[in-house]
Amino acid sequence: MTVPPTTPPNQTPGGSLYGPAALEAPELYEVYEPSTGAEVQPRHAAHLGEVGSTEVLRVDNLTVGFPTDDGLVQAVRGVSYRLHEREVLGIVGESGSGKSVSSMAVMGLLPKSARITGTISFRGQDVLSMSKAQQRSLRGRKIAMIFQDPMTAMNPVYTIGFQLAEAVLSHEMMSKKNAMARAEEMLALVGIPQPKERLNSYPHEFSGGMRQRAMIAMAVINNPDVIIADEPTTALDVTVQAQILEKLMEVKDAFNAAIILITHDLGVVAGMTHRTLVMYAGRPVELGATDTVFYHPRMPYTAGLLGSIPTAGDTGRLRPITGAPPSLINLPTGCPFSPRCPLATDVCHEVEPTLAPTDTEDHDAACHHWDQLAAAPDATAFFHTESEARR
Ligand SMILES: Nc1ncnc2c1ncn2[C@@H]1O[C@H](COP(=O)(O)OP(=O)(O)OP(=O)(O)O)[C@@H](O)[C@H]1O
Ligand code: SF4
Ligand SMILES: [Mg+2]
Repeated sequence: MTVPPTTPPNQTPGGSLYGPAALEAPELYEVYEPSTGAEVQPRHAAHLGEVGSTEVLRVDNLTVGFPTDDGLVQAVRGVSYRLHEREVLGIVGESGSGKSVSSMAVMGLLPKSARITGTISFRGQDVLSMSKAQQRSLRGRKIAMIFQDPMTAMNPVYTIGFQLAEAVLSHEMMSKKNAMARAEEMLALVGIPQPKERLNSYPHEFSGGMRQRAMIAMAVINNPDVIIADEPTTALDVTVQAQILEKLMEVKDAFNAAIILITHDLGVVAGMTHRTLVMYAGRPVELGATDTVFYHPRMPYTAGLLGSIPTAGDTGRLRPITGAPPSLINLPTGCPFSPRCPLATDVCHEVEPTLAPTDTEDHDAACHHWDQLAAAPDATAFFHTESEARR
């Protein structure tokens, strides 16, 4: 079985997002269809373009808890990140790691029962202390969201054109005719053929890929500063997935928007994001420029995720991390990954590590033993089975 290299060819380690190394890195991963092993999409980092210097969103030490009959679900435990204009941040982690809840907090979409602490700052304004009306105005206009299943975000009884126009009219004074013209323009921008005619279609008359394009049109119709895309392509086949992500990147440049791309699949963020935040059990466990995180992982969980990406020569056999994430009500003492971690020692079972700088620039990890990954020629090899290790 081929595993991803921890150092790409022709690239010096430690390139920073804002430095030339990240922009010059010619290719990150190539993505292969697991069932056939056929290459479906070469991933390039260069097309992402440069990140602006203006910070649009800052999240500091965000925590979210949900009181339940069984106890407090600690869904998000101290997430911090910054997002600049035109920047794409990937948030990656297994199901239940807190990716959606942390983003719903930014959107002001959490249920009333949620206990939120920390700071969310949009262009210097404190989102959590805004009134509901202010949050509503921010939502959809300045911060937009793309969901995994467009059918849940679209109303099946209204035409696509009506829904797009409504999205404009709810935030801006303009005639219905002009709103429809804007809707048509957006459908054309996201690559829907015959956009004027398709304005009259209902969501069920669109294919899955077209619906997701229409969702992107809806997200950008008010020229947002931040687009949060929560698993936007998980329900689509690999080729359509690639097209949709490419379209999202084009749209980002057209609108100067920043994007948060949420996914459980580390392969999706390769080449599609400037920075990657890896989450585990509600906590950020690794954060850095995407190429650095990919080629120099400093947290065993990330290395395990990397080992489970299909690569050249694989024919459907993936190497998932064994075991399951912990309960967020009864978290174990120490590092929450310790029961699954091949590097765990006594200190791991006793003390939870915090996100701290590593040997590579602008790259933090929450691991007591990140130096062991730094010393290893292939960090993913810690997750090899005994028979693989003998090969
Ligand atoms: N309203 C709620 N009440 C109680 N627990 C909740 C609530 N919403 C989310 N949770 C819990 O918070 C945790 C984080 O959920 P979240 O939806 O953020 O996960 P995720 O990383 O987005 O996972 P997935 O990849 O499956 O979408 C989960 O354990 C989930 O069950
Ligand atoms: S702190 Fe210990 S258990 Fe946790 S990821 Fe690092 S080595 Fe593994
Ligand atoms: Mg989710």
